[in-house]
Amino acid sequence: MKGIVLAGGAGTRLYPASIPISKILLPIYDKPMIYYPISTLMLAGIKEILIITNPTDIHNFKKLLGDGSQIGVKFEYAIQHKPKGIAEAFLIAENFIGDDSVALILGDNIFHGHCFGGQLKNVAKENKGATVFAYHVKNPKQFGVVEFDKHKKAISLEEKPSSPKSDYAVVGLYFYDNDVISYAKTLKPSARGELEITDLNKVYLKKDKLSVEILGRGFTWLDTGTFDSLLQAANFVQTIEQTKGEKISCIEEIAINEKFITKEELLKRLNPKMQNEYLEYIKML
Ligand code: G1P
Repeated sequence: MKGIVLAGGAGTRLYPASIPISKILLPIYDKPMIYYPISTLMLAGIKEILIITNPTDIHNFKKLLGDGSQIGVKFEYAIQHKPKGIAEAFLIAENFIGDDSVALILGDNIFHGHCFGGQLKNVAKENKGATVFAYHVKNPKQFGVVEFDKHKKAISLEEKPSSPKSDYAVVGLYFYDNDVISYAKTLKPSARGELEITDLNKVYLKKDKLSVEILGRGFTWLDTGTFDSLLQAANFVQTIEQTKGEKISCIEEIAINEKFITKEELLKRLNPKMQNEYLEYIKML
């Protein structure tokens, strides 16, 4: 299975902080935002990851992440020239995906919960068609919304509805079979000029090939698109990390735990002259 991080977008809600740099590179407490979605893909066991970004920021992403060999993964890069929607990612990534299945995660989505890695690996293995995740939210109007019947089977999907049929948002993490490329090609831009991920998921729903996994009460999902949510996410990560003494979404730690790389290999690549709390943590692993 391949992975895609969609790190495009204009970042208008974070103006002016997003003028000089992509919001996906802004820090969430002690690491750049993109570490969080990358770590989610790594926990699913995915090692080949395409980062889709805009033309002005691509060099910064490359500077930060390189080719991925330092953590035993392979990063590739592609450009989304204009913010034409999440589903456009599958057209941009057609050659990268090849004949494989694929998981897409949005660059500003943070996931944290017990046993999530196991759940993700299971979805990656078992997915037939599409699998998406639903999370109970206070403000469903801001998201894609899924409606369930009494057996918790999805019966409708709507993008940012004015009268939501449920309080369950479809979060920014999606698993698809290889048909996603041909289905994405059939989509027409929405009123806001985007190829909507919700329209793509509706294709799977209509064919009865959409599974929806509910992320329960003990789970945390954060979308960090506004100044408030950015600060809330940073406070959340700081609270957990300082209480537990364990980091959330430390990609180097995940690479070791997932056996993508050995501790010795990782240590060899660290610059011995650099010192800070993050590097000390990696050395202590
Ligand atoms: C996008 C999707 C929406 C989803 C959300 C999750 O919204 O269109 O369906 O619920 O991400 O973060 P946008 O980022 O375009 O507001």
